[in-house]
Amino acid sequence: MSIVNAKEILVKATEEKYAVGAFNFTNLIQLEAVVEVHVDKKAPLIIQTSVTPSKFLGREVIVAIYRTLAESAPIPICLHLDHCRDIDYCRQCADAGYTNIMIDASKESYEENVRQTMEVVDYCHGLGDISVEGELGLVMGVEDQIQVVEDEAALCNPEQALDFVDRTGVDLLAPAIGTVHGVCKTKSPKVDFERFGKIAQLINGHGVRAPLVIHGGSGLPSDYVARLIELGGSKFNVSTDLKRTLIDTTYGYISEHRDEYNPGKIDLIVKDAIREKVIYWIDMLGSPGKV
Ligand code: 13P
Repeated sequence: MSIVNAKEILVKATEEKYAVGAFNFTNLIQLEAVVEVHVDKKAPLIIQTSVTPSKFLGREVIVAIYRTLAESAPIPICLHLDHCRDIDYCRQCADAGYTNIMIDASKESYEENVRQTMEVVDYCHGLGDISVEGELGLVMGVEDQIQVVEDEAALCNPEQALDFVDRTGVDLLAPAIGTVHGVCKTKSPKVDFERFGKIAQLINGHGVRAPLVIHGGSGLPSDYVARLIELGGSKFNVSTDLKRTLIDTTYGYISEHRDEYNPGKIDLIVKDAIREKVIYWIDMLGSPGKV
């Protein structure tokens, strides 16, 4: 029961108006902190790697750790590949055991985005229970190898979003609505709530077809998060908050304990700091107790 794809947990979340945190990790300490908090809080979970950490750690290793943790956890956990632009790598991760794959062809023309997304959907659905996320419009900022500057960013067109879901059969849709990836954030991102509401209504207004994903979670004010959930957002991607917590906590500890050589101690402190950040997020998303 613990190994699931994303769509299974997100349809329920969309219907019941809460959201599931999708946390990017780059090492085992982050991952354990994220899983432990969700087990304690009885919350469904999506863990995710972007392409660089997936290649660096190795997709087979990541899947082995995921399976070990998920099989003994009394909560559903999905392993998601984030922002992959390479169809072959999408296939390889699906073969290895990732349970949700994001093909990000959002920089391509609309027709090419449809074609590539369909190709990944056909492959993943052919393998069985693997769901697929697509992106429409271009989310600004930096996430791993993906960089989109302000001039390139484009918001998602609601009618095109419906056509995209109809034609591709994609399981989850990430529409660009003004949220921003990465460390450098404007003080108040210009989120187009009206556009998001229209997309949600067109796609999921008569039963949930494709749960909607909010990228660029870190730095979003809590009232924005609440409004996006109310309008139909059910997966919130959070990466920068965990990276910052890892690096700032490590740096702070080492600066004050320059003579100590005990990595285990740093791990414990980092884990506690990440736990705190994850608790902040899932309390805001309303996922505790939803298993
Ligand atoms: P943040 O780094 O802004 O949290 O965005 C994460 C994200 O959207 C990953 O796909």
